[in-house]
Amino acid sequence: MKLTVVGGGSTYTPELIDGFARLRDTLPIEELVLVDPAADRLELVGGLARRIFAKQGHPGRIVTTSDVDAGVADADAVLLQLRVGGQAARQQDETWPLECGCVGQETTGAGGLAKALRTVPVVLDIAERVRRTNPNAWIIDFTNPVGIVTRALLQAGHKAVGLCNVAIGFQRKFAAHLGVEPGQVHLDHVGLNHLTWELGARLGGPEGENVLPKLLAEHGDAIAEDLHMPQTLVDRLGVVPSYYLRYYYQHDAVVRELRTKPSRAAEVAAMEEKLLKMYGDPALDEKPELLAQRGGAFYSEAAVDLAASLLGGGGSPYQVVNTYNNGTLPFLPDDAVIEVQASVDSSGAAPLAVPSLDPLFSGLIANVTAYEDLALHAALHGGRDRVFKALLAHPLIGQYAYAEELTDRLVAHNREHLAWA
Ligand code: G6P
Ligand code: MN
Repeated sequence: MKLTVVGGGSTYTPELIDGFARLRDTLPIEELVLVDPAADRLELVGGLARRIFAKQGHPGRIVTTSDVDAGVADADAVLLQLRVGGQAARQQDETWPLECGCVGQETTGAGGLAKALRTVPVVLDIAERVRRTNPNAWIIDFTNPVGIVTRALLQAGHKAVGLCNVAIGFQRKFAAHLGVEPGQVHLDHVGLNHLTWELGARLGGPEGENVLPKLLAEHGDAIAEDLHMPQTLVDRLGVVPSYYLRYYYQHDAVVRELRTKPSRAAEVAAMEEKLLKMYGDPALDEKPELLAQRGGAFYSEAAVDLAASLLGGGGSPYQVVNTYNNGTLPFLPDDAVIEVQASVDSSGAAPLAVPSLDPLFSGLIANVTAYEDLALHAALHGGRDRVFKALLAHPLIGQYAYAEELTDRLVAHNREHLAWA
């Protein structure tokens, strides 16, 4: 089995490698290719990756290259985890929206749109190269904004599934509260990428007992604290929102908070500098503790599970993924991309049925889906007017003056990445 990671020079990669090494029985990789344009990073990350495999006795071969075509050639699955423009572009996404009083975040609001515009054309180009060498290869997309990027891939006819670690994070945390194995917790996870709610937590599988009310009664304080949300809000929702819902439910408070501290991009850039120094140490042969301070906890487990199922191996029968709606949420178009539990096998992901949703959730989901639709149009076809319309449709923006101002700033800050600007 050959697996390729595009964006393999990411400081996140040792997390992935650690998962591949630990879970090698689930995913028997023979060749792992790390593709990245940044040769210096790739050398450091690749070196550590080889030491992790060696230490854990993994027989797989690790290859590094900056040549996308060579890297993806004949891969069975290609993981996309790239960041167009790096942390510097993220820093911009987190900054200029704040100047207009709007949330500055890499996947939500105007910053998320900027990221989508930079990213979609690059991802589609890579996917085309994958298809050229192996039309049967699966594409697993971690690249944000995952909902919009996955929709772009599916619309272009690619064999793609989008993945995020928010659900697996809740599964692990709930399991720890309950004192059970993570695999025992089945989440009723519904929404769009980075716009989800855990409506239930079932023991054993989709038909199991819903213990979410009990979890909220006994551990509501810890759960709310972890989300940085007031417990009274979580109690009144009666379900567990993802922490990305903070940007909606507490938008103005978050803006005030973000204005007083360094951006997440700056924090991550400082961390990356330290991490890369550590990776260069030939004595290091495991993922360092510092990596746990990044947001990607458990993403290797989710990736291994998904790749194993897609490649016909022994992944979990149900997994939370991003895929076409196809009637699952009846108030959305079939070709909207949603994030829900799905049964996954070598034929792909098929969403499980979802009970009818409270308007408290469906209203926001419908609104953000409309935004994502317009955002994808803007990413595919370009133009100031398409950018403006996507911003006007976004529930966190919505006003003419904001949409105008943010359009100008988005274009000004991203000119080098936008072919049409
Ligand atoms: C979570 C999200 C990812 C996001 C990451 C950011 O894992 O699910 O989509 O990329 O957080 O983490 P960072 O450490 O880069 O802020
Ligand atoms: Mn995510």
